[in-house]
Amino acid sequence: MSRRTPIVAANWKMHTTLSTAAELCRALRESIDGVRGVEKVVCPPFVFLALAREGLAGSTIKVGAQNVFWEEKGAFTGEVSPPMLADLCEYVIIGHSERRKYFGETDETVNRRLRAALAQGLRPIFCVGETAEERQGGRTEEVLLRQVREGLGGIEISSGFVVAYEPVWAIGTGVPATGEMANETIVLIRRELASLYGGALAQAARIQYGGSVDGANIAEFMGEPEIDGALVGGASLKADVFTAIVAGAARLKGTA
Ligand code: PGA
Repeated sequence: MSRRTPIVAANWKMHTTLSTAAELCRALRESIDGVRGVEKVVCPPFVFLALAREGLAGSTIKVGAQNVFWEEKGAFTGEVSPPMLADLCEYVIIGHSERRKYFGETDETVNRRLRAALAQGLRPIFCVGETAEERQGGRTEEVLLRQVREGLGGIEISSGFVVAYEPVWAIGTGVPATGEMANETIVLIRRELASLYGGALAQAARIQYGGSVDGANIAEFMGEPEIDGALVGGASLKADVFTAIVAGAARLKGTA
């Protein structure tokens, strides 16, 4: 079995200003540029992508966006297209639960975004996750498999495709899943990828855990065999905490 390079991504969400975004990039460049064996990605708000690209140029830290529209151009006020992002960043988060919850994102619109992003050569971080109600109702597997199947419907993926498993009840709550629970759930997701794309692509796909990850619990997640990194929200806004998370991932799972 090939060893997967873990990927740790910072989702800044709707935080930072011009000056704090610049400062965070500067601090991260100093603290994690040299960490090897882990792919590092910073996802600032759209308006700070150019700044992050410049501030991190020549470093090992990659830049990602938090969303993308599926049309290439046109009269879509306020939207950002795949070609616009292609010159600014490498990764793009798609289908985050906050997009699904507050902005009407569905499996169908996630599918359109994934398709358009991949066609443009962007690398998606495809988010899936169940709500507390769905987990309590015993529907976790059904919900996740539907999100994976419909999100990826008709799409070819390539080796190293990134999925983020983020249980909605763990996001921003300070109540993470346990490593064991996240690992078990990721097994289900990987099994579904295997049925869609075959075992080799499923084994090469990287599946992150996200939801209240911090410097103290990263070791628990990275100690699990199926978890290939983390998507980090709140804790990614402090350079020292995000640095501890990246270092933890490198120590326990780094491929360098
Ligand atoms: P959190 O967010 O780390 O603040 O829980 C994770 C995410 O939404 O990606």
